[in-house]
Amino acid sequence: MSEHLTIVEHPLVQHKLTLMRDKGASTASFRRLLHEITLLLAYEITREMPLTTRGIETPMEEMDAPILAGKKLAVISILRAGNGMLDGVLELVPSARVGFVGLYRDEKTLQPVQYYFKVPEGLKDRLVIAVDPMLATGNSSAAAIDLLKEQGATDIRFLCLLAAPEGVARMKVAHPDVPIVTASLDRELNSKGYIMPGLGDAGDRMFGTK
Ligand code: URA
Repeated sequence: MSEHLTIVEHPLVQHKLTLMRDKGASTASFRRLLHEITLLLAYEITREMPLTTRGIETPMEEMDAPILAGKKLAVISILRAGNGMLDGVLELVPSARVGFVGLYRDEKTLQPVQYYFKVPEGLKDRLVIAVDPMLATGNSSAAAIDLLKEQGATDIRFLCLLAAPEGVARMKVAHPDVPIVTASLDRELNSKGYIMPGLGDAGDRMFGTK
């Protein structure tokens, strides 16, 4: 992907996002909508996966038909909210390997603290899609990408639902080589690091923990 930031403006994505933002959305519908939007965002982020051709026979004749060139994929969920996007990507690419990066945000410093890290081997040969619904300060996302690069990953994309300008700027400085795909670039962060207008705490809303 050549663009650093891609905003998916497809009407279905925007419609579903509005339903998710509404504070009246139930936990069940928030989760379902996130899953559905992820399918559409994952479609966009995999748009440039390399193709080759395979000779096949249709019932009518032989043809050289396009097929994925076989670059392996790893989906990395940035815990815990990333888990809400994982199944959506896996539905499109069922053979992908899966990893988890556990980072929580220190509420005072807003800096990421690592508590879990488990990723598939051979990241250097894979297309790596890191998922986290909220790109807020960008501190956790940048730290997660640092860890993936330490494991050899070179072809990384970042998939999120909402992005704040501050987070996009932080990622552009820290990881200009990592394209970001999102459903919306929101206005700003508030003083507590929440995205405005945003949708609140994505983890709490999808898991019903508040
Ligand atoms: N994380 C969230 O869940 N929501 C925000 O607005 C910012 C970070």
